Amino acid sequence: MTPKQGRRSSAPGVRGISAVRLPPGIGNGPAGQLRPATEQVRLSYVAALREYQAEGLYPDLNPVALSDPAAFRAYVHRIRQAADSSVQLPPGWVPESTFWWIAQDRYLGRLAIRHRLTPALQRRGGHIGFDVRPSARNQGCAKRMLMAALPHAARLGLEHALLTCDVDNLASQRVIFACGGELIDRTDGILRFTLRTSVDPATTGEHLGETHP
Ligand SMILES: CC(C)(COP(=O)(O)OP(=O)(O)OC[C@H]1O[C@@H](n2cnc3c(N)ncnc32)[C@H](O)[C@@H]1OP(=O)(O)O)[C@@H](O)C(=O)NCCC(=O)NCCS
Repeated sequence: MTPKQGRRSSAPGVRGISAVRLPPGIGNGPAGQLRPATEQVRLSYVAALREYQAEGLYPDLNPVALSDPAAFRAYVHRIRQAADSSVQLPPGWVPESTFWWIAQDRYLGRLAIRHRLTPALQRRGGHIGFDVRPSARNQGCAKRMLMAALPHAARLGLEHALLTCDVDNLASQRVIFACGGELIDRTDGILRFTLRTSVDPATTGEHLGETHP
């Protein structure tokens, strides 16, 4: 992550996108579940990783190595351990809870909640980051996943979550606005949003059993 600083300005690129609370069942895509990282979806995860890498994401992960059950188990363990605040983390790292969005054993996406902010995360990264595998995009997965994650963020003590995205990432902006995000500022091509986490459970999917803490 490159720390960037600069003048604050308005964000003309994001005007006209309305902030609406989502009704449950948003989108036509699969009704997923927000779950901790799990070995159960190894093959699907590895297939998703190949999709991400075709567009340049996750270059550091090795799908061939992760196809091995033992290697994948260790990988899942590391992801889960990153949420443990008692574990010693490298300098500059903060505890992070990662959830996977899963529908019928198919891995669809990932969402991570950082428990607190560093100066670098204040500028870029924020509390919550997410992505959806390319073959599952534009079906409402990210919106459902983000809404389902809000109670988890609230339980971590985050009354408002900071989210950031690049000014040219229109899909991410639509997701954040649709979930109630409010633009804070735009600096050097990065938009920052604040998102209230204490929302009506009827809009988060929790009442549908969509989250598995
Ligand atoms: C951003 C991302 C998570 C969205 O996931 P998704 O499951 O496709 O999102 P949803 O289907 O819930 O919503 C996407 C919205 O963006 C819109 N959209 C998608 N591509 C778009 C584009 N190129 N320009 C404008 N809008 C776009 C969709 O139409 C939809 O809006 P609508 O429901 O109002 O019509 C996904 O594109 C992704 O993983 N991108 C790479 C990683 C990333 O950018 N993560 C976010 C970092 S802040």
